[in-house]
Amino acid sequence: MRSATARAHSNIALVKYWGKRDAELNIPAVGSISMTLSGFHTTTTITEHDLDEDIVFLDGSPAPSAMTERTARYLDLLRKRTGVARRIRTETTNNFPTASGLASSASGFAALATAFNAAFDLGLDPRRLGILARLGSGSAPRSLFAGFVEMLAGRNEDGEDAFAVPLAPQDHWDIRLLVAVNGSATKKVGSTKGMERTRETSPYWDAWIATHAKDLDAARRAIRDRNFELLGKTAEADALAMHAAIMASRPSVLYWNPTTLECIRTVFDLRESGVPCYLTIDAGPHVKVLALPEHSDQVAKRLREINGVAGVYPHRPGPGAAIIPSEGGSTS
Ligand code: DP6
Repeated sequence: MRSATARAHSNIALVKYWGKRDAELNIPAVGSISMTLSGFHTTTTITEHDLDEDIVFLDGSPAPSAMTERTARYLDLLRKRTGVARRIRTETTNNFPTASGLASSASGFAALATAFNAAFDLGLDPRRLGILARLGSGSAPRSLFAGFVEMLAGRNEDGEDAFAVPLAPQDHWDIRLLVAVNGSATKKVGSTKGMERTRETSPYWDAWIATHAKDLDAARRAIRDRNFELLGKTAEADALAMHAAIMASRPSVLYWNPTTLECIRTVFDLRESGVPCYLTIDAGPHVKVLALPEHSDQVAKRLREINGVAGVYPHRPGPGAAIIPSEGGSTS
């Protein structure tokens, strides 16, 4: 039985991906730039089997049906593109609270694609692996790499130029990203749906696309030059522009709750008092805060004091996806 175990770390976009230029091939409408997180990861073991359907386990129990279906659909795409015919048992664990609504699709699909590549000895290069990971989730290719990563939107209709590339390694820059977990309700409008609604109905869609291109340039420069203020300002403005476009959709989509606003206010207050820190928010209520190492404890303490914040998890730039040899590797 061929089998492999891979681990991929979560990532948070500092310049966001929001919108698709091709929903079927899952090609992003815009590029994005992320930091891979040191502390949150997904570990996935895949094993071929003789049953006639794929089975999926999450944290040791049969996965919820929506996750099983999404995984099986994704495995169908992998099989079609690689010629592998076997059905698969997937066992996946997240070391972060899955029920908290923190995105696990990026690390999940990056780990799955990496394990698939190893189990079936496909020898895919990072570009091809990125294209396969993208078919699972648009943010997944970024989790293949360590440190700071750019996802290219590309131009080709077939999506062959839409994959992730590393921008800077883990040890390039010691900055911190603090994830303030707040609330556990699963989102009413998932990112895939939210993106489509924004593109189709938001009067600010075109403005989002226009400002975003400049944000990508600025963030690339900021990372290269280790310019914290430029990266922070760019990341915060880009996230707020994305949420403004999302909120203006018809009907509106609102990912925030009162604790989200408290966190935003706290970051603004900290900055006014001379502590450089900047926020970003994804398709959910959690606020993520960029800080320098010397301010990380102080910022975390202030965030923890906010009513409704369940936990604050600080991260350094983390490693890329990798095979875990002791538990797997191809055994064919
Ligand atoms: C707001 O990668 O979850 O987190 O491609 O439809 O699976 P799909 O979307 P997904 O969207 C991530 C959106 C975001 C911003 C980001 O991570 O860049």
